[in-house]
Amino acid sequence: KKVVLAYSGGLDTSAIIPWLKENYDCEVIAFAADVGQGDEELQGLHEKAIATGASECHIVDLKEEFVRDYIYPTITTGAVYEGQYLLGTSMARPVIAKAQVEIARKVGADALCHGCTGKGNDQVRFEGAFAALAPDLQVIAPWREWDMHSREDLLDYLAKRNIKTSASATKIYSRDANAWHISHEGGELEDPWCEPSKQVWTMTVDPEDAPNTPERIQLSFEQGKLVAVNDEKLSPYQALIKLNTLAAAHGVGRIDIVENRLVGMKSRGCYETPGGTVLMAAYKALELLVLDKRSMQYREQQAIEFSHLVYDGRWFTPLCNAILASAAEFSQKLTGDIVVKLYKGQATVVQRRSPNSLYSEDFATFSKDEVYDQKHAEGFIRLFSLSSRIQALKNQNGKV
Ligand code: ARG
Ligand code: SIN
Repeated sequence: KKVVLAYSGGLDTSAIIPWLKENYDCEVIAFAADVGQGDEELQGLHEKAIATGASECHIVDLKEEFVRDYIYPTITTGAVYEGQYLLGTSMARPVIAKAQVEIARKVGADALCHGCTGKGNDQVRFEGAFAALAPDLQVIAPWREWDMHSREDLLDYLAKRNIKTSASATKIYSRDANAWHISHEGGELEDPWCEPSKQVWTMTVDPEDAPNTPERIQLSFEQGKLVAVNDEKLSPYQALIKLNTLAAAHGVGRIDIVENRLVGMKSRGCYETPGGTVLMAAYKALELLVLDKRSMQYREQQAIEFSHLVYDGRWFTPLCNAILASAAEFSQKLTGDIVVKLYKGQATVVQRRSPNSLYSEDFATFSKDEVYDQKHAEGFIRLFSLSSRIQALKNQNGKV
């Protein structure tokens, strides 16, 4: 029997390797995804997996795929969960799960395993993707099965088996990083009345320590795709990394929220999405320049729907595909440049232009006006508000 484990090299997935071998009498194939979480996490991972008892370790570079096929499409939908969360962890789960299934097929595995707890969203996202892509494979979720509850338990478990680990008993925060964001949960953050300490944040400069002079950056889009930053042509992944560097230096992209988990409880999280915050603001500004009012209204509704689909782990579903197709259609018109000013934690759009802009100074101006006859507004408003007038007359006179 062969099991492919989504492996990070952390304490949890390290303990899972011997646990799987003992409890499922199987061979463990470790699989790690490079979604841009940084080299520290990936360095020496292969050796570590083998030393912990895995028979193989596959590290797959998903950086460009993640940005191109998951992050950008999500940006085009405008999805933001509960008004603030830019879905950094949620979006990464389907791309990781898909690659994990591909490894499972390649090695002829019987089961898929992940290290998510039984209290979180991530288990739902992994298993939602597994269900859609590999309904025939068994799913193993050790956190829902074993009776270990703390880092000490896991360290003991490894020590008893003479498996070395560099993990320590105290790790304050649960963090999840990729090219789009880093999330921080746990520790003092579990008290929503407790302000996050400085050590929570790892990706961005504290806005209070950010430079006193603002910096303007130009984002150039072609048919909804970011193609250049400050006139430098970059791949989707490279462009995001560049934005991360620029925005992080100004403390842009921090949020501190209480959110509704899919499994029912509320949780408190701090998230850093520097480049993504700039990108979302720029994309929205371009949409507002190019799309008409009814299109925007439709897009706003789709954005909310899509945020829930992604958060809830329903990426590989017909509804997700349908919303992405509609967003891709709107994005065809989104060509142009947006200038964003970065300053002390804020990303403010200050300039915009597009060959497809529907903005017309001739129509919008408050000064001399030749194309718009203000008299036409009277009849328009009378008919637009007619139903209100009829209702009000009915209320006044009992009849109309
Ligand atoms: N609460 C966020 C979400 O559900 C972040 C989850 C972080 N996951 C993790 N394994 N540390 O998307
Ligand atoms: C976990 O519980 O595994 C992480 C948090 C989450 O999935 O929401």
